[in-house]
Amino acid sequence: MKTDLPQSFRRLEYRPPVYTFDQVELDIALDPARTIVKSRIEVLPGKSFEPGAPLVLVGHDLEFVSLRINGEAHRHFELTPETLTIHSLPNEGKDKFIVEIICVCVPEKNTTLMGLYVSNGNFFTQCEAEGFRKITYFLDRPDVMARFKVTLRAREAECPVLLSNGNLINTEKLPNGWHSATWEDPFPKPSYLFALVAGKLECIEETITTSSGAKKLLQIWVEPHDLKKTRHAMDSLIASIHWDEKRFGLELDLERFMIVAVSDFNMGAMENKGLNIFNTKFVLAQPETATDADFANIESVVAHEYFHNWTGNRVTCQDWFQLSLKEGLTVFRDQEFSADQMGSESGRAVKRIEDVRLLRQLQFPEDAGPMAHPIRPDEYQEINNFYTVTVYEKGSEVVRMYQTLLGRDGFRKGMDLYFKRHDGQAVTCDDFLMAMADANGKDLTQFKNWYSQAGTPRVKVQEHYDAAKKQYQLTLTQSCAPSPGQPEKKPFHIPLKMRLITKANDQKEQLLELTQASQTWTFDNVEERPVLSINRNFSAPVNLDFEQSEADLLTQFSSDDDAFNRWEAGQKLAMQMILNNRLPDAQIIEAYRNILLDPNLDPAFKDLTLTLPAESYLYEQCTSVDPQKIFTARRAFRREIAKQLQLEWAALYQQMQTPGPFKSDGVDSGKRALKNLSLSMLLEAAPGVWAPMAANQYQIADNMTDRYAALAALVMHGAKQAKECLIDFYNRFASDALVIDKWFGLQSSRPPVDGLDSTLEEVKKLREHPAFKLNNPNRVRSVIHAFCANNPASFHQADGSGYEFWADSVLALDPINPQVAARLARALDRWRLFAQPYQDRMKAALERVSACQTLSPDVREVIGKALG
Ligand code: PHE
Ligand code: ZN
Repeated sequence: MKTDLPQSFRRLEYRPPVYTFDQVELDIALDPARTIVKSRIEVLPGKSFEPGAPLVLVGHDLEFVSLRINGEAHRHFELTPETLTIHSLPNEGKDKFIVEIICVCVPEKNTTLMGLYVSNGNFFTQCEAEGFRKITYFLDRPDVMARFKVTLRAREAECPVLLSNGNLINTEKLPNGWHSATWEDPFPKPSYLFALVAGKLECIEETITTSSGAKKLLQIWVEPHDLKKTRHAMDSLIASIHWDEKRFGLELDLERFMIVAVSDFNMGAMENKGLNIFNTKFVLAQPETATDADFANIESVVAHEYFHNWTGNRVTCQDWFQLSLKEGLTVFRDQEFSADQMGSESGRAVKRIEDVRLLRQLQFPEDAGPMAHPIRPDEYQEINNFYTVTVYEKGSEVVRMYQTLLGRDGFRKGMDLYFKRHDGQAVTCDDFLMAMADANGKDLTQFKNWYSQAGTPRVKVQEHYDAAKKQYQLTLTQSCAPSPGQPEKKPFHIPLKMRLITKANDQKEQLLELTQASQTWTFDNVEERPVLSINRNFSAPVNLDFEQSEADLLTQFSSDDDAFNRWEAGQKLAMQMILNNRLPDAQIIEAYRNILLDPNLDPAFKDLTLTLPAESYLYEQCTSVDPQKIFTARRAFRREIAKQLQLEWAALYQQMQTPGPFKSDGVDSGKRALKNLSLSMLLEAAPGVWAPMAANQYQIADNMTDRYAALAALVMHGAKQAKECLIDFYNRFASDALVIDKWFGLQSSRPPVDGLDSTLEEVKKLREHPAFKLNNPNRVRSVIHAFCANNPASFHQADGSGYEFWADSVLALDPINPQVAARLARALDRWRLFAQPYQDRMKAALERVSACQTLSPDVREVIGKALG
């Protein structure tokens, strides 16, 4: 019997704050075992104020020491494990009063990585979403925005560097080897954007001039041995700053902007005002240790966090239900930035395909599963569980649709109005929508359904061509499956870019706005039966129900002028064949060959085109998934492409070499991607023949992309050279944690290979490896998540052994780091979609976790919803 039901928070229960804060002064004496936090807060009545109302502050895992009001000790308060409620306020709280609190926290014991914690002997904070309450008692909610002045004290020998938000206004030497630094942030901010960093760190710095002519100091702080790996992040930051000025007219507002890297971090990075804190994975790179994908990820995460300075910090969220207001918008901005950085139209298309592929692999399953939620959720138990691909990636697609509907200029007008109206405020997704609507005089009422309804819409496509009338009719019908709490859906406002492909090439691209359940469009003067190219560039995040003949798909695959749809036609052809357990026929092999040989196509595009749909995306096309059957069919299909085109792969392998110094730009990385796909295909075709070439590439590579790709090809195809190369790789990079993560991750990602131990057995050994640490999220993700969430064919075993391992891991992680445990818990979300015996075994594993009495709210919510 459950003793207490999980607590839910509801969007519609939002109330403005009873009190609000003006100036906040913090004085923090840093000690890993006992950090003393003194706060001095100016409190004012808030929007929901009523005279006599108590001031309710939240605090978590804190030792309370003292409370003063207006300089006097105050006894009228109550403490609970979550709150400090203060009664008998001066003049019933009607005038400004000063609260002073002293409390203590223990950073060295904090393994949750929320609030103040220690990593490699240095201090860091993470406050989004609700971490500030682990530092001091506060109104820890985003609609309370205060000006912060922060004094940090520490022993100078251990913490020579003391950083916080804003500008450095004072430093002092103190007795007993202590020193202090005082920082002042001129911009009011919610507590979730507070940060401090202290320890032995060094920085590279650069001074730049922004559009108004102001000089700005940029710094990237890392552990001293990592300084040489910061250049790419700095270049990315400078490029981001210039891009935001040019594209959106947004300038850096602080005199100083800092990035700090930390190796223990729950997420990618955090946009604290003027002091971004990053997972080392998204800062550190040099060609010998980072792959092209790492370089690209660093560029986009640096941009993302920088862009938050306007979309998130200057204009923030009223409450956490509005998270997509900042995240969807900021992902859209970083995607656009990265696309522009590709430097060509074909590069932009490649970036778009990559983004859509990710969306469909990760977000579509989420939107069809037990955790499905609208981009603006209505209910949550633990907000940390809602930093999801839906809020981020689908949120970005929704923002992209405004741009599609309003045009680039219209979108810019909407952004300008948004900042004009809301700079310095904490607002809602409705405010964003209204700015877009008002700036363009467009009625976006129905567009709101994208914010309130979960699930991926389906659009059914029906065509009719009347040769006599030379008329083409297109009927589009939309629907959306029920999702938790939403049995029925209203029609969405769906922008669909389309074009009729004809031999005469006489039809223009158009934008159709599907707003009703079903609509028909008629096109006149169509001289021949056209091939329809619809949802071009993936203009809307929907599933298309479009039965196309193989001939039409082949036409699109060879000649659609929309690069996305050209790629998509190939994916659809492959998907249909794989799901029907068919091998590629002569026609599609020929089509692949033509793509590979086409001198006008971007190598990166070829790489994407010859990469088959992911297993997780294939699952979503089925009503009952047999993971082993899908794996086998997909692999057989791949092997056939590998064999039939072996000559082409071998030739491409030679042609795609990139001589000269390493460059991580779109052109060279595209060539390397195609070269390394070729290598992998050669091993797929004939491992014995080609493995020596891979081993040679492994040995002579001068960059991580090539070295890792060669190693991966050997491991994935079970080549006998894999073993010694893995040993070599470990020894070469033993001191570089991020590279060792790759070493772990690669072995945990290996699909089943005949004649080798199961990957599960390997993963169990890796978990016992001396370099494995359960309290480092990157390491855990590289071993456990890589296996449970990204290696379906090894994970889904009919005997349920993978699920047992999953349950053990969730239960072991939860007491250490609930956020990381809850992410792992999501790996069984789609259990109902699976065939037997998988389904029952997944359910049994879920029930075993659920039976644990001491689950965190994070894991409890995920498991509860999965079983619910
Ligand atoms: N707000 C961060 C981002 O998207 C993500 C994050 C959330 C980081 C919560 C840490 C904790 O950029
Ligand atoms: Zn973000």
